[in-house]
Amino acid sequence: MKANYTNKLSIKLISIGDVEVGKSCLIKRYCEGSFVSDYITTIGIDYGVKKVPFNDSLVAINIFDLSGDDDYKTVRRPYYKDTLGVLMVYDINIRSTFDNLNKWEKEAESSGLDLSKCIVIVVGNKSDIKNKREVKAETAKEWARNKGYHFYEASAKTGANVSESFKYLFEGMFNRTIDNRSKYVY
Ligand code: GTP
Repeated sequence: MKANYTNKLSIKLISIGDVEVGKSCLIKRYCEGSFVSDYITTIGIDYGVKKVPFNDSLVAINIFDLSGDDDYKTVRRPYYKDTLGVLMVYDINIRSTFDNLNKWEKEAESSGLDLSKCIVIVVGNKSDIKNKREVKAETAKEWARNKGYHFYEASAKTGANVSESFKYLFEGMFNRTIDNRSKYVY
């Protein structure tokens, strides 16, 4: 039976973080329940839409998966605007990918995105890899907490904490639409 929704809403989510940290794999794991082990770099931007019911609304989440490659900096810039949710990813086994989150914040802000108005989650990915850890969970958790972001360690490979991360992100984004519904109706 086809569900009837009072509203159809459209919201925007972006993913940011260094190359190869696993942004595309996390999104694919959540949206399709699968994992790709061959590395295919995002060329500029990947786009997809996921429709999720929320109360009496059907919410289209427009996902813009931004390439982490600096060659695409100019291509990425216009995609920051009007974003409600941010998936900020680093690799727990490569310290520089965590340190570079400061760089990603700067790029987002200088491209017109006010992160303090977004729901941001920081995901330390590749938690399935053992004995190579370069970033302690407590360090990243504290960094995220100071910024007002939520933090998870996850693995796109095993699926650990992936649905929890997206659930938190989506619920936060959905709640933000409540006070300003007309902005998101389509
Ligand atoms: P760009 O599109 O270049 O910015 O990279 P990305 O951040 O989207 O990375 P992508 O999702 O393409 O993954 C990069 C590589 O890491 C691929 O070889 C994946 O198979 C691997 N990978 C992603 N997530 C995990 C994970 O949780 N564990 C392990 N072991 N490997 C992962």
